[in-house]
Amino acid sequence: MLVLCGLLPTGYMNASIPNPLKDASRVEPRISALLSQMTLAEKIGQMSQVNAGEGYAPDYLAEDLRAGRIGSVLNVVDVGVINELQRIAVEESRLGIPLLVGRDVIHGFNTIMPIPLGLAATWNPGLVQQGAVVAAHEAASAGINWTFAPMLDVSRDPRWGRIAESFGEDAFLTSQLASAMIQGFQGENFSSPGSIAACAKHFAGYGAAESGRDYATTDISENELRNVHLRPFNAAIKAGVATLMTSFSDLNGVPATGNEFLLRQILREEWSFDGFVVSDWDSVRQLQVHGLTENDKESAFAAATAGVDMEMAGDAYSKHLAALVEEGRLSVEQIDAAVANILRTKFRLGLFENAQTDPASLPDIASGQALDTARKAALQSVVMLKNDGGILPLSAGKLASVAIIGPMADAPYEQLGTWIFDGDEQLSVTPLQAIGSLLGSDVEVRYLRAMETSRSKADEGFDEAVEIAGDSDVTLLFLGEESILSGEAHSRADINLPGDQAELVQRIRRTGKPVIAVIMAGRPLTLTNIVNHVDGILFAWHPGTMGGPAIADLLFGIESPSGKLPATFPRMVGQIPIYYNQKNTGKPPFPGGVIHIDEIKTRAPQTSFGMTAFHLDAGYTPLFSFGYGLSYTRFEYQDIRVSAPETPLGDTFSLSATVSNVGKVAADEVVQLYLRDPVASVTRPVRELKGFRRIRLEPGQSMVVEFTLHTDELAFYGRDMRLLTEPGKFHAWIGGSSEASLGTQFRLIEAD
Ligand code: BGC
Repeated sequence: MLVLCGLLPTGYMNASIPNPLKDASRVEPRISALLSQMTLAEKIGQMSQVNAGEGYAPDYLAEDLRAGRIGSVLNVVDVGVINELQRIAVEESRLGIPLLVGRDVIHGFNTIMPIPLGLAATWNPGLVQQGAVVAAHEAASAGINWTFAPMLDVSRDPRWGRIAESFGEDAFLTSQLASAMIQGFQGENFSSPGSIAACAKHFAGYGAAESGRDYATTDISENELRNVHLRPFNAAIKAGVATLMTSFSDLNGVPATGNEFLLRQILREEWSFDGFVVSDWDSVRQLQVHGLTENDKESAFAAATAGVDMEMAGDAYSKHLAALVEEGRLSVEQIDAAVANILRTKFRLGLFENAQTDPASLPDIASGQALDTARKAALQSVVMLKNDGGILPLSAGKLASVAIIGPMADAPYEQLGTWIFDGDEQLSVTPLQAIGSLLGSDVEVRYLRAMETSRSKADEGFDEAVEIAGDSDVTLLFLGEESILSGEAHSRADINLPGDQAELVQRIRRTGKPVIAVIMAGRPLTLTNIVNHVDGILFAWHPGTMGGPAIADLLFGIESPSGKLPATFPRMVGQIPIYYNQKNTGKPPFPGGVIHIDEIKTRAPQTSFGMTAFHLDAGYTPLFSFGYGLSYTRFEYQDIRVSAPETPLGDTFSLSATVSNVGKVAADEVVQLYLRDPVASVTRPVRELKGFRRIRLEPGQSMVVEFTLHTDELAFYGRDMRLLTEPGKFHAWIGGSSEASLGTQFRLIEAD
């Protein structure tokens, strides 16, 4: 029996590796020396980021670069163009300050990993880190030195299109993966070739947009903000993230881009962040649209006062900051502090030493390695939601024919997902291609797209689809949503499979032949209307470049599915928000405590007696819970132990369980630890993820998986908004999902 200790991936929480360029004693004097030579206009230039997306940038930006009016550009990706921009900035401007060159490198650059929500389904920080290393390297080869990732908005609303860019609904999982991704982008030392600066976004609360409508208002109590939404950002700062981006949204009446509480009190005073803050796209000027300010000048004032160091793609700073300083409304010290934050990042990136990019000089990441990482990430991201009668894996040797039907089976671009500006569609291997090459000529593959897009309402292709399915041994239905249906500004109010896909499923079902649905989507979908009409479901998110081979390997049992849901799948959209770590309420639901709308008798009397928190038409459980995901083997959890029944505050303790593979195939399992603090001065969630570990077990193999926790890891923000750990009883569960039933208890006690 193997014993694994110290299983929390705490290594991801501390990236403070010594780096001379990061050494404040060296960088700070250089910043001061530079600041002392800068004019106000040059300082404001550093605070301005310009979109260089169209035309030949060196021509139209040269004059501003020479005059020191630009500190950063975004959306230019040609290494020659970037080198020329850097050359002008360094050689032809008065002070030779190099540029930050930003780009949305969200889940890959040329080689595309699964969407972040899919990466989260791997529950594998090491793999997420490796994916970011590949992305950073490819982006750095193009001259990019700053990515606008990771997005750390805790996302509990699958209607929100940007849930695709998130790590899901849980602050702990998000924090762990955020730290890993930041380390991947920035390397041990982010001035090293092939590393780029990361940006934790969108600070803060953006994921809580009302009704999941992108950009909508957020109203989050300070306690909830601190206990949930801010945690991943704090983790990102501990991991050494270079920059933060503000959110577009209004937070409790003050839009994030003008929110001093967030940007000064939390970020600078409480967390001592010394990188810089960039606005979101034109979000400074949008302060007026929100109704916070009267005009662009006041917006510039509000944002600069709040602590936005750099304005992205707007001109409020370049047009108005100088006047605000001259009028005495902003002090030179305020401007200097913002510029120092930006220069600090440029020094740390090593840009003053060398701003030119020579792709040939970068350490080699072979394209094979990039594709392998993409394939592994896709493989581990797929979540098997259903496998009736062990229909999966399919046995190629027992099949004469397979029908492959649906709009997502052979969609090289769509499988890449949202935010893939530089993704190379030519690299994509689709499921149709991969299954074809895996099966060779032994099995007949019959393919029909059947629907032009996932949204098609025309059923002309359905008769032929039914015919093909009826003639085949098994049908693989590739369903979902195209990439453009999720991502920024692409929220949906109805999260069923779009178009006539459910109808297609039902028509195929009537053939009586086995049907497997492989679903590619940018969000959790409501699958209630198809779940009983298919034998198996693989939920593949948008799996990226190598989605096809990964899915083929899973369908045919070369590997076992091992992804686990990073977000709850509701039965109906009206259940949203539904997330595992909800509060208990005073009337918590339980199996016998619900009735269904159809059971209500005529003139039934109104009563609240015995009633609990549920919906008459949906009950209270989701369709699939957080942490859930099936495997081709079966894992048994036994013998949960706590190292001591009582642990004094300030000490560490451990919880362990024995996990056994009692099935027939080797497989990965994501072992999850959940805790509950049943009595606290501020009510706590019914369960909270506190640790997880991906393990691999051969058939018959067992492993003791141990999680070591410091009592501080049980801390929460109390009534006075201070972090505290309260003594008392705790419940713990270890298992393969948030519904784990193997539990124990322990106590935290006051230290002597
Ligand atoms: C998005 C950011 C993104 C920026 C630059 C904005 O619209 O909200 O997440 O980084 O554009 O492309």
